[in-house]
This record gives sequence, structure tokens and C-alpha cells, in this order.
Amino acid sequence: MDLVARTHRRALLRFLLASPLWAAARPVEALEFLVAELAQGDDAAFAKPLVQSAAEGLNVFDFEPVAKQNLSDAHWAFLSQGVHDEFTLRANREAFNHVQLRPRRLVDVRELDLSTELLGQKLSSPILLAPCGSQKAFHLEAELATARAAKVKDHLQILSTGSSTRIQDVVKARGEPVWFQLYTPRLMPVTRLQLSEAEEVGSPAVVVTVDTYPGVQSNRDRVRAFRRADNPSCQACHAGVSRAERALRSVSELGNAVGFDVQDALDDLAVLDWEYLDRIRDATDMKLLVKGIQTPEDARLCVQHGVDGIVVSNHGGRAEDSGLSTIEVLPGIAEAVGPDFPIVIDSGFRRGPDLFKGLALGASAVAVGRPYLWGLSAFGQEGVEAVLALLREELEVSMKQMGTPRVADITREHVQLRPPSARG
Ligand code: FNR
Repeated sequence: MDLVARTHRRALLRFLLASPLWAAARPVEALEFLVAELAQGDDAAFAKPLVQSAAEGLNVFDFEPVAKQNLSDAHWAFLSQGVHDEFTLRANREAFNHVQLRPRRLVDVRELDLSTELLGQKLSSPILLAPCGSQKAFHLEAELATARAAKVKDHLQILSTGSSTRIQDVVKARGEPVWFQLYTPRLMPVTRLQLSEAEEVGSPAVVVTVDTYPGVQSNRDRVRAFRRADNPSCQACHAGVSRAERALRSVSELGNAVGFDVQDALDDLAVLDWEYLDRIRDATDMKLLVKGIQTPEDARLCVQHGVDGIVVSNHGGRAEDSGLSTIEVLPGIAEAVGPDFPIVIDSGFRRGPDLFKGLALGASAVAVGRPYLWGLSAFGQEGVEAVLALLREELEVSMKQMGTPRVADITREHVQLRPPSARG
């Protein structure tokens, strides 16, 4: 049914529902039908057609349905799902409603400057690409397309341990070293190997993810269900590519490949705890960030353990279902570590005002995950470029509206938190 016909039909249904004649004689089933039909909301009647090209995207959400259309059910589930009942996934978005912006007027904002500095590295914008693994599931060019887009738009890219593309090739495509995200296996020699690969290509920083790691089950039912129904051989898309990843597959192979004693390695099994983090700290000269911090207590421990920065993250609602959004835990964490300690935040950031709120509440930079994966799945490199451009433009608009021409001008004074008692 076309839009006009549907609109007329809904007007007729509304008229019927309000009619006194109907009130006298309406059968229950018919009433239920009418209410259900109208409950679909006007949005359904005015659903936007899918964008046909990257240039048509008006905001990052425009890329999501195209991504869904392009991907297999299993890959879509992998991209979109949160853990358990997805309380945290939803909280990440809803929590932005409880942070309000405080616009300051009469500021000259003709000249905007989005450049900033993070761990001594100059960045042209505080918007980063979060590490997301297995990008071949979304587009054949995978991390290379993402890297080329990051190069064109000049954004810092963090490459996942689970990358479907070798770090050497990604760095070439990006045109400069990317940051490396590390999932720590329990074998320290493997960790050293992973670190040395990143060091060899000049990565200035390693981001150790501590909210999901081998051995800790993150319950994503939809992913598991579709994986069963879809293509059982995920290895077809996600074949290991780096020495370290090959090593993870088979410890005995690892021993042969890099020449260390397998038995020694097995005797040296580690758990991911603060002591292991210290060992990672000692094993590399790269700057060390810890990703997945959600409490001021852990943030303080990171400082005490000589970590260089933290990523306040709940893995985009994919780790545990804490129900805690990152934007609501950020102020407490920022206070705990002090104003000079680098904080990156991610999870749920989609719009200029979201990015602005993160920066105002104490983050030095904001990372996005799914938005650029939607762009990648929809239109490859062009899609990622479009998403990055939209995020930048929206942040620029927010900065103009708030009277903050430079990133450093964005402060706690530009937001207020709605008290829990005032929440609906
Ligand atoms: C991720 N994320 C992630 N994090 C990480 O440290 N290593 C990884 O390999 C991955 N892989 C991954 C795959 C996919 C498909 C998604 C969606 C996410 C988490 C990611 O770095 C980031 O924390 C979230 O994506 C941020 O939330 P949003 O922006 O997706 O809401």
C-alpha cells in the first residue's frame, strides 16, 4: 500500500474508533485490530526508503537498515546484538536523555577547531574508530576499507586483535600506524608476540580489553542461534591472518613457529588480573590503555598500576548486562582520575550532541563502533567515510550551538545532569 493510501486508511480507522455508533456496537476483535493497527505509530506510515548511496545518508542511522539488508542473519546478529536481555545496549542510548546541554550564547564560533591531543599524539578530531573484530563479516575489503576511510577523513583507528586483515596491511592502507587492541590470551609468550607485531609496525599504543576475553562467556543468544542456522563454517570468513592469531589456534604450532618451549608456556598460564596487566606494562614500550572500565575504583587502580589511559566502555552492551551506560558512569570516573588523565569513552555514541556530552563530562576522545560498521556493511569504504563525515559535521554543529569553538572549550559547565528523581 502506498503512503497516501495508508494515510487515508489510518485516518478512517481513527474516525471509526472515535465514532459513537462504533462505541455502541463494536466487537472486541475488531477493536483489538484497530488499536493494534494504530499502535504501529505514524513512523511506520512514513518510513523512509533505504538510502541508495553513501552520499544520501543524512545521519548514521540511515546506514543501519542498509547494513541489515546486506548482511546474512548471523553477521547481522554479530554486529547488532548486545548481551543477555540487552539492558545495557538500551541504557547506552537512553542515558543520553538524562544529560542536558547548556548552550552559551554570543560566542564567535566562525572558526571551529576540532583538533586535539591524545597521549601525545596530535589528532584532527576527537572521534576515534573503536576496535571491532572480524570485519570481513561486513565487507570483503574489511579493515582495509575502514583504514582507507580513516585515512581520507583523518581519524585514529584502533585495530582489533580479531582483525580479519594483517596489521601490516592495515597500517599501509591507513598510511600511519594504528593503535592495537589486545585480547590477552592466557599465555604470556603469545601476548609478547602480539605486542611485538604491533611494535614492529610502529603502533604507539596498545589498548588491552578487559571486559570480554577468552574463557569468559558473553551470552549473545541471537548470534549463537543464527550461527547454527547460517553458515556453520565461520572460519571461511575469519581465517587467522597474523602470526599471533595462528599461534592462538595451536599451542604446539606456536612453539614450532616462534621457537619457545611449549611446556614452559603452559606452565606459565596467567589469569587476566592486575598482576598480568603489570606484566603487559613491563613487556612493551607502547603506551598502555585499559578498555572496559566502568567504575571509579577500577579507574583509580589503573592509575596506580601505571596505565597511561583508560577506555570507559561496556563493549557497546556486549560484555556483561550491567545496565550501566557509559555516559552515566563517566563523571564519577573522571573525578576519580583527575582532569589530566586520558579517558576515551565509547558505547552508544551516534549523534553530535552525544559526542559533545562525552567530551563535556570528562572524556578526551569518543570512539564509535557500530556506526562505522553500518557504513562499512552498507557501502564499504565510502560508507565509513560518510559516517565519519556525518559525525564530524554533527559535532561541529553542537560545538557552534554550545558556543565552544575549540575542543578544549567544551567543559562540564556545558552540560547538566537530570537528577534521578526527575526521570520519567
Ligand atoms: C566490538 N567491540 C570490540 N572491542 C574490542 O575491544 N575488541 C574487539 O575485537 C571488538 N569487536 C567488536 C565487534 C563488533 C561487531 C562490535 C559491534 C563491537 C567493541 C567496540 O570496540 C566498542 O567498544 C563498541 O562497539 C562501542 O559501542 P557502539 O559504538 O558499537 O555502540
